[in-house]
Amino acid sequence: MQEVLKIEGKHLLKGSVKISGSKNATVALIPAAILADSPVTILGVPNISDVGYLGELLEALNVRFTQVGDDQLIIDPSAITNITLDHPGVQKLRASYYFMGALLGRFKNVSMKMPGGCYLGPRPIDLHLKGFEALGATVDFKQGTYHISATQLIGAKIYLDIASVGATINIMMAAIHALGRTTIENAAKEPEIIDVANMLNKMGAQIRGAGTNVITIDGVMNLHGCTHEIIPDRIEAGTFIIMAAAAAEEVTVENIIPQHLESLLSKLQEMGVELKVGLDNVIIRRASNLKPVDIKTLSYPGFATDLQQPMTPLLTQANGKSTIIETVYVERFKHCQELQRMGADIDLIPATAFINGPSVLYGDKVTATDLRCGAALVVAGLIAEGITEIHDVYHIDRGYDNIDQKLKNLGANIWRETVE
Ligand code: EPU
Repeated sequence: MQEVLKIEGKHLLKGSVKISGSKNATVALIPAAILADSPVTILGVPNISDVGYLGELLEALNVRFTQVGDDQLIIDPSAITNITLDHPGVQKLRASYYFMGALLGRFKNVSMKMPGGCYLGPRPIDLHLKGFEALGATVDFKQGTYHISATQLIGAKIYLDIASVGATINIMMAAIHALGRTTIENAAKEPEIIDVANMLNKMGAQIRGAGTNVITIDGVMNLHGCTHEIIPDRIEAGTFIIMAAAAAEEVTVENIIPQHLESLLSKLQEMGVELKVGLDNVIIRRASNLKPVDIKTLSYPGFATDLQQPMTPLLTQANGKSTIIETVYVERFKHCQELQRMGADIDLIPATAFINGPSVLYGDKVTATDLRCGAALVVAGLIAEGITEIHDVYHIDRGYDNIDQKLKNLGANIWRETVE
């Protein structure tokens, strides 16, 4: 028995939807909170299963974790114990690797299993480890567990070969108490990195330059608790904007930072989608005559790899051939197979998808092979004739806060069922 998500397509969306706090910021802010010596309150926490998995890891570390209301967490790390993190929760998500940087920063040693997460092709963590080594730690990998330790962490200049989000945040946390100054060059510039740096600075850290490609961290002795509100989720926002471009009479996507979505909004405008951008919202109407576009995924502020999957079904509705070149995760195309099953005409060569539109999509049984593949299938289900049945829906629940309820409120016919 398993739970599936069913969508009857062709119901036009209308109304407004409020975007939740950023998943990719939240999953870093929770481990970052253990660097404090008193409680940290995080506001705007999304209701997603990744938060639950991180909660299991906090409990394993004897960190008190209280949920207040719908979207607040109080994390009290004052009685934390640094045990080996071999809890099954580690392999439920990628972001468990942020406990490496946080525990190393706090205790100068950490032992932890390999992180898990969506399969998007190879996802090495060599840059994280190189960064820890540059700070003076030794890294040992034995029987599936990393042992990382240092007698003293010392500030260093670290150049990242790739502007990795995870490595940038992990090194920032590991360097928080290091002696002297750490400089990360070719740092990633994603808004989630600024959010984590802002919370750490409220806790007493000395981080400058987050959001640019050079970040400096001056080691401090102690960090204290604080209250921090998470930025809105630009990928959830982007997903709803794409859904609206595909199927809205008129939808307002609220609680967004439009600057975080510029690459998507300009692509949609190029396609002929009607958009009205406000201070913290955008109003979208679907266009009847969509133009094909070419997309190349890049690190921020380029087109987000996390949005190329939800974008693919929209491109099946454009009049002509669109191209997606994926440069961040070259194998991130599993959704295309599922969309082909629904009638999409997509040719794949390594790292590139050619989408030949327009195609009529038909509801079918499809599988969410990863989180954003799941989002792509929801977009497809809204456009398709008949009923789409999405399996492995737990992938979607890892990163979208109440996606079915939010869509129901917009008039979609979407529901869950338990099937054999
Ligand atoms: N990379 C390396 N070595 C490393 C680290 C990364 O070669 O040590 C490579 C990766 O294989 C990839 C590229 O560098 O080709 C960028 O990876 P990055 O480290 O930036 O990705 P990440 O931190 O593992 C985060 C998000 C992803 C998002 C990417 C890119 C979190 C928890 N995850 O992953 O989000 O796709 O940045 O923006 O923040 C998602 O939300 O669906 C998701 C997968």
